[in-house]
Amino acid sequence: MFLGARSHDEVEERIDVAYNYSFSMFDANIGSAKDNVKSAIHNWYRFTAGFSYKFIDFVVDEMECKPHCIYEPFAGCGTTLVAAQKKRIHSIGNESQQLMCDIINAKLNWDIDSELCKKYIDYLLNEIHSNADIDISDEYNPLLCDLYDAETLKNLYLLRDYISTIGNDKYELFLKLALSQTLHKAALHPIAVPYIVRSKNLVNSGDALGKFTSIAYQMLSDLDTVPHHERMAEVHKADSRNMNPEIENGCCDLCITSPPYLNNLDYGEVSKVHSHFFKITNDWRDITEKVRHQLVTGATTHYKDADFNLEGFMENEFSKKNPKLMEALVEKFEEIRSKAKDRKGKKSFHILMMHYFEDMFHVLMEMKRVLKRGSKAYLILGDSAPYGVYIPTTEFLGEIAKSVGFRGYSITKIRDRGHKWKSLSQRHSMELSENVLVLNR
Ligand SMILES: C[S@@+](CC[C@H](N)C(=O)[O-])C[C@H]1O[C@@H](n2cnc3c(N)ncnc32)[C@H](O)[C@@H]1O
Repeated sequence: MFLGARSHDEVEERIDVAYNYSFSMFDANIGSAKDNVKSAIHNWYRFTAGFSYKFIDFVVDEMECKPHCIYEPFAGCGTTLVAAQKKRIHSIGNESQQLMCDIINAKLNWDIDSELCKKYIDYLLNEIHSNADIDISDEYNPLLCDLYDAETLKNLYLLRDYISTIGNDKYELFLKLALSQTLHKAALHPIAVPYIVRSKNLVNSGDALGKFTSIAYQMLSDLDTVPHHERMAEVHKADSRNMNPEIENGCCDLCITSPPYLNNLDYGEVSKVHSHFFKITNDWRDITEKVRHQLVTGATTHYKDADFNLEGFMENEFSKKNPKLMEALVEKFEEIRSKAKDRKGKKSFHILMMHYFEDMFHVLMEMKRVLKRGSKAYLILGDSAPYGVYIPTTEFLGEIAKSVGFRGYSITKIRDRGHKWKSLSQRHSMELSENVLVLNR
C-alpha cells in the first residue's frame, strides 16, 4: 500500500518508526514563536508564523563541526538568520515579501550608533511637533482608519514620512522596524494574529509617539547585548520556487526552515495593515499580484479555481517525477472535492493541495542545488486535514524530496495539534501533528 492510502494511525506509526534524532529536550513550543518574545532582537517584530530560535541553537550545537553557511528559503522575520549571526555563522535567506525583507535587514544590522540614532529620533519628534496643524488625512489607507484613533493615525503617518527624509538607509530601516512594532502596539484591535480581530479591543492603544520612542530606545539597548557587530547574513527578496542566480551551487552546508503549511493561512492578509501603511500595496488586487503570487500557494486566495485543470496538471514536471505520489494525491483530491460540495464555503482545498505540493517540489529542487552534498535540511512542518481528509504533508514532502535527489528523510513529531477544533461542529476532530522533517542531501 502506498503512503496516501494509509490510515492516519498507520502514518503516525511510521512517524514513530522514523524517529532517529532526539528533540526531547524541547517542549512543544519549538514550532512556535513563543520563546522569541523574551529574546533580544528576535522580539523586534511580532510574527505569529515564526518558530523558536532555540531550534537553530539545538541543531547547530548538536553538529560535530560548526556549519559554514545556513540556507533559509522562507526567511520570514529572520529567526534563522539572526540566530546564526548570534553564533557567528554565515547565512543566506530568501523571502519574497518586501515588508519581511525590510524587517530582517533591520534585525541584522548591528552596527547602529546609539547617539546618532537618538538624534534622528529627536529630529522626527521635533518635525512632528512643529507641524502639528498639517492635514495629511487624504494619505490614509481606508483599512487603517478604524484601527487607530485620529491623533495616533496622524502621528503614525507623520513618523513614516519623516523617517524617509533621514537620508541614511540603515537608520531608516531600523526606525521603520520600530514603527512596524508601534503599528501593533498602538492599534485599537489586535492586528495579524493572524488576521485583524475587530471583536477584541486592546486596552493600551494609542500614544504612537511615546510607544515609538520607547520601542526604538529598547532596540538600541538590545544592541548593547549582541556578541559582535559584523553583518554575516545575505537576504534576497526572492521566490524560493525559482533558481536564485545570486546563490552559488552547493554553497550552504545546512538548511533550517519552516515552509508555509498547507492550512489556508494567507500571508498577504497577515501583513496587509503593514504593507498598505508602507505603500507596498494598496488594495486586494495589489496584495494578490505583489504578495500572493510570489509565495508558495498556501491559501485558496492565491489562484483562480477555473485556471486549474487536473489533466494538464498531470503533465507537469512534478507529476511526472512523482507518479506514485500522484496516485495518492488524486485520491485525496477527489475525496476533498466531494466533501467540499456539502460545505457552506465550498473552498477548493483539493486544488490548493495540488498547487502546494507542486510549489514545494520546486522549492526542494532549489534547496538541493544550494546545499552541499552530505549536508542536512531541517524543516518544521504541520500535517493537514482539509474538510477532514487527512494529508500526511510531512511524509509527502519527504517523498517529493527524494524525487528531486535527496538521499532520504526522517520525521520526528514535536507536538500534537488540532485539538482545540474538536468542539466546533464544522471542524474535523482529527489529531494532527507538527513535525521536523530531516532531509539528507
Ligand atoms: C512559516 S513562515 C517562516 C517563518 C520563519 N522561519 C521565521 O521564524 O520567521 C513562511 C515565510 O515564507 C515566506 N514565503 C512563502 N513563500 C515563499 C517563497 N516562494 N519564497 C520565499 N519566501 C516565501 C512568507 O512570506 C513567510 O514569511
